[in-house]
Amino acid sequence: MKYPSIVLRAVLPAAFFVLPVAYAQTNPAIAQVTYKVVEGNKVDGNTFQGWKTWRALDCERCHGAQQQGLVGPSLVDAFKTLDKNEFHRTVFGGRVGKGMPDFSSSQMMQKNWENLYAYLKGRSDGQIKPGDLQSIDAK
Ligand code: HEC
Repeated sequence: MKYPSIVLRAVLPAAFFVLPVAYAQTNPAIAQVTYKVVEGNKVDGNTFQGWKTWRALDCERCHGAQQQGLVGPSLVDAFKTLDKNEFHRTVFGGRVGKGMPDFSSSQMMQKNWENLYAYLKGRSDGQIKPGDLQSIDAK
């Protein structure tokens, strides 16, 4: 899916864009956990695809193998407040002038951006451990 879901847009009032942090913390639709993880390194099939996308597109080259930040910012920190729409805007379009590439031509990204969002959210929440993952679902 290339664009953020219409449903998500419809439920977000304009206030969300003014107070992203406060809103994300109080709105269950946004704070919703989108990954499943057991023992820190066994995840649902979708999140597993998200992790594979992270690896294949080599985000760690700039954001660090543990998302701790290198040339690019720490995504562990960023995902405390970064919502799905903002994530979508960042990877589909990039911030080329600031060193963040545009991944919109990547089919793997087109197919897996929501899974990648789930993976990075799980990392930021401290629920998913850094390093290799296994899939709980046979996929
Ligand atoms: C060539 C280096 C590089 C690569 C590769 C890279 N990024 Fe980035 N990324 C950056 C930089 C630099 C920024 C900060 C841009 C800015 O200052 O706004 C950034 C910003 C971001 C942000 C926004 C963080 C925030 O605080 O708003 C996200 C999300 C992100 N990158 C995700 C990814 C993902 C996912 C991948 C892999 C598909 C990736 N990046 C690959 C360099 C990179």
